[in-house]
Amino acid sequence: MRAYLCRLDELPDQAARGFAPEGTSRKAMFVVRHGGRVRGWLDACPHVDGAPLAWRKDAYLSADGNSIVCYGHGAVFDIDTGVCTRGPCVGQALTPVALECDEGALWITSPHAAK
Ligand code: FES
Repeated sequence: MRAYLCRLDELPDQAARGFAPEGTSRKAMFVVRHGGRVRGWLDACPHVDGAPLAWRKDAYLSADGNSIVCYGHGAVFDIDTGVCTRGPCVGQALTPVALECDEGALWITSPHAAK
C-alpha cells in the first residue's frame, strides 16, 4: 500500500515539508529535498520519545538549509543520514520513512502509508 504526498516540483531544493494525512493513525512525517535527493523521516525526535521537531509548520531545517534541527532542545541531524551530530542526543537517529518517486510524484510506502 502507498499514499500520495505531493508532486516533486512542489518541494524546492533545501526545503522540507511535513505530512500528517487525516484519517490515519500513523505518526506525522516530513520530507527533505537537498542536493537532488529526497528523504523521508518520522517527525519524532529521538531525544524525547515522540516529540515533534518543528516549532511551526514545515520548520525542520537549519537557517542555511543544510541540517535538520529539532527546535525542542536544539538537536542537529545530518540531512542525509538522520544521525544527530550535535545536541542532547548525539549518535541517535531519526527514523527513516521509505519514499517512492513515480512520474514526478512522491509517495510513502507501507507501513507508514496505512490508511
Ligand atoms: S526534543 Fe528534540 S532535542 Fe529535545
